[in-house]
Amino acid sequence: MSMRKKLIVANWKAYVTSRRQAEALARSVVRGYAALPPKSPLALVLCPPFPYLFQVSSTGMDGAQLGAQDVFWEGEGPYTGEVTLAMLKDAGVTHVIVGHSERRRYLGESDEMINRKVLAALGAKLHPILCVGEWEEPQGEEEERKAFRVVREQLETGLKGVTPQDLGRVVLTYEPVWAISGGGGSADTPENAGQVARYLRRVLAARYGADAVEKIPVLYGGSVTAANVEAFLRDRAINGALVGGASVRAEEFVRMLKNVADASRSQR
Ligand code: PGA
Repeated sequence: MSMRKKLIVANWKAYVTSRRQAEALARSVVRGYAALPPKSPLALVLCPPFPYLFQVSSTGMDGAQLGAQDVFWEGEGPYTGEVTLAMLKDAGVTHVIVGHSERRRYLGESDEMINRKVLAALGAKLHPILCVGEWEEPQGEEEERKAFRVVREQLETGLKGVTPQDLGRVVLTYEPVWAISGGGGSADTPENAGQVARYLRRVLAARYGADAVEKIPVLYGGSVTAANVEAFLRDRAINGALVGGASVRAEEFVRMLKNVADASRSQR
């Protein structure tokens, strides 16, 4: 597991609000990524808001990949306002964030809806980045047990009907909602994040077998910065990060990529 490439997913959310801003950010980030030492064991996925997907892909990706922040499960038809998999693929998207807590909270997305999105993304041969995480920071053992139950249920319902073959294309993210910077949170401890990452793997292993689960990247998300990213990735159960706020601060984000690349080279 330790030899695997680290994966950094930049979730620009709705922080980027103009074409110019999207283009400038993509350019700086891609330039920084391309300047990493060759063969850096680090994959990068940029997830701009929908209107800027083409903009970002046409600035040149230099090995970085394109992701979307959401998708609709139906193929085409009378679905006003929705963005389908065909549209995303046409824009060059390879990854799609599914089940982000901000969509669960503000748009009322349920585990069942999220499951439809996961299945649709897999059916279109994309990588769903499934987000799970408890809402409140657990205080004491009883609440901790409850938090484990919450992520377990989100995981099991989110992946319902996913075949062992398709499982290999799933990216999992543990993102405790209370740790997200935009909601005023501060980062989880690497110890707890690692513990939950291992728990998610055990839940999946019980169903799919240890070998199938070994290959799945598990990311941590929630107030990841250039300063704390290494501490999270030092735990071998955590294979990367989903980054919100810090991913739109170009200079800091490039520093983060460099820190991750340096750390994972020295881990090899
Ligand atoms: P944050 O957001 O890095 O700003 O905490 C992460 C996310 O919600 O994807």
